[in-house]
Amino acid sequence: MKVAVIGAAGGIGQALSLLLKINLPENSILSLYDTNPMTPGVAKDLSHIPTSIQVEGYSGDDGLKNTIKDANVIIICAGIARKPGMDRADLFNNNANTVKYIIENIAEISPNACIGIITNPINTLVALAAEVLKKANIYDKRKLFGITTLDIIRAEDFIAEEKGIPAEYVHISVIGGHSGKTILPVLSQVQGVKFTEEEVIELTKRIQNAGTEVIEAKAGSGSATLSMAHAASIFCVSLVKALLGKQGIIENAYVDGGNPCSPFFTQPLLLGVHGIERVLPFGELSPFEEKTKQDMIKILHADIQKGIDFIKTK
Ligand code: LMR
Repeated sequence: MKVAVIGAAGGIGQALSLLLKINLPENSILSLYDTNPMTPGVAKDLSHIPTSIQVEGYSGDDGLKNTIKDANVIIICAGIARKPGMDRADLFNNNANTVKYIIENIAEISPNACIGIITNPINTLVALAAEVLKKANIYDKRKLFGITTLDIIRAEDFIAEEKGIPAEYVHISVIGGHSGKTILPVLSQVQGVKFTEEEVIELTKRIQNAGTEVIEAKAGSGSATLSMAHAASIFCVSLVKALLGKQGIIENAYVDGGNPCSPFFTQPLLLGVHGIERVLPFGELSPFEEKTKQDMIKILHADIQKGIDFIKTK
């Protein structure tokens, strides 16, 4: 399997590449690209870690094409990050063209690859990417993912902290999208833990605002990088294992899954050799969660439409 990381010299990209160098299945190829000329150096640095995963790194004009050629999975974390006071949607004007350009190259060079998007705003850029792929006549909705695993690991950590239990034992599904009120942690389905109404309200709010919590703590120097890299590596390693034929792998991601509430929606997915094997139901919601889901739908639709319109007007 060949995994490409686009934006590999940035804060998320370097940490993600490190985790993939350690955690990808044996003999995988890890190919790194960034416009930053240090990228071959990042690859060289990683190559000294003794695992069987081969690392290569490119910048420059042909670098992107070399990186994505024959890739099975391409993770996109290129683009700029939020500063305090910004919403993820404020990144759209900067990041839309970056993602469009990368996806156009993927459509041309590596049309069968699975694509995982981390670049924000995910709610909009995944829809934008789908439009680019449709225009190129190679859209396969089983292979396009917005990576939202960060919402899950945060939720698990915050629940563990609130309840005084080890985070390793907490498992939760987070559905919807990846910004503010579109992030819906399904607390009612967490096994072995009961929450009061106040806890549900407070935890939901904290999980929805967790990205901002990091941005404020970093005081103007960026958003989450390390936890995001960890989350993306969990998703990416699962996807690679599923592509290799491992059965029963389930991950949540923001996909074109035929959900009646929204054309793109984060929910559990059974992964398989072609990407998404089956979109799984997200199960019964509590009245609070059902209302949160209803309230997010208008926001999600507007986010998605913005990505579609961007490509239509090009
Ligand atoms: C996050 O959730 O930390 C990322 O989406 C980055 C951000 O802007 O919040």
